[in-house]
Amino acid sequence: MKKLFLIGKSLKHSISPFIHNRILSEFEIDAIYSNLELSDTEELKEFVEMVKKDKDVVGFNITIPYKEDILKFCDEVSEDVRIIKAANTVKKEDGKLLAYNTDWIGFKKSLEDRGVDVKDKKILVLGSGGAAKACIYGLYRMGAKEVFVANRTYEKAERLKEVLQDILKILPIEWLRRYEFKYDIIINTTSVGMFPNIENNPFDFEIYEQSPPVFVYDMIYNPLKTAFLKEAEKRGIKTENGLKMLVYQAVEAEKIWFGDIDIVSNLIAEILNQCE
Ligand code: ATR
Repeated sequence: MKKLFLIGKSLKHSISPFIHNRILSEFEIDAIYSNLELSDTEELKEFVEMVKKDKDVVGFNITIPYKEDILKFCDEVSEDVRIIKAANTVKKEDGKLLAYNTDWIGFKKSLEDRGVDVKDKKILVLGSGGAAKACIYGLYRMGAKEVFVANRTYEKAERLKEVLQDILKILPIEWLRRYEFKYDIIINTTSVGMFPNIENNPFDFEIYEQSPPVFVYDMIYNPLKTAFLKEAEKRGIKTENGLKMLVYQAVEAEKIWFGDIDIVSNLIAEILNQCE
């Protein structure tokens, strides 16, 4: 039986095994997807050694905090990974490790499903970690020309600008000054509001009562409705949570591992339903 893994530091609440194993069973692929918690980069190194030795390992997904660390163990990276400098999917091919990023594709597809057009919109991204980079790369691929980025640690927003400024204009703003402009679209990529701190909200819409954004997105999917999304909905703003992005990035990873398997929308809808 072939093996696939999700590696990360804390995976207790991860629903990725459910999503992947459902896809694998649908296509009668003799493989199992499991979570593996790694406590530090030393364990990450040992994991990579195991992967290289074990002929049954097809590939793996990577989550917080190893999406950047994994790159030093990879032999080749895709064009998007070269730009974002973070990978969430690795495929083993002829003993080599190839790094991909399907997070941005998941993000982009979930926006497209919702009919959101980002061209010429004023967009604010909250956060400057790996999730923010995948989000901004996805916005760029959808035609955005500039993005405002607010982060609690301002220097990280500036560093993000250095990484992505060749593909689009990044305007870093201080966290405490994030209300100084009005936006059409606001995207939360921070962990603020994530289980168990579900009361926390990274943005206060109150001062925007006269001209609220038209769309807000929260990459968090646990809970499905964060305080951020609840506050937006109260004001009639269109919203989307991170569940579809999660499912779509998994679908794209499966296609990388097993060729272009035809994962139809009915199966995706069924998985989404069961995750809700
Ligand atoms: P990921 O790869 O998922 O983006 P990360 O790199 O740990 O994870 O980034 C988490 C993001 O949430 C960061 O932008 C972080 O801000 P800092 O760069 O200042 O750490 C943001 N974040 C976490 N807790 C926060 C809080 N209480 N208030 C504001 N931002 C917060």
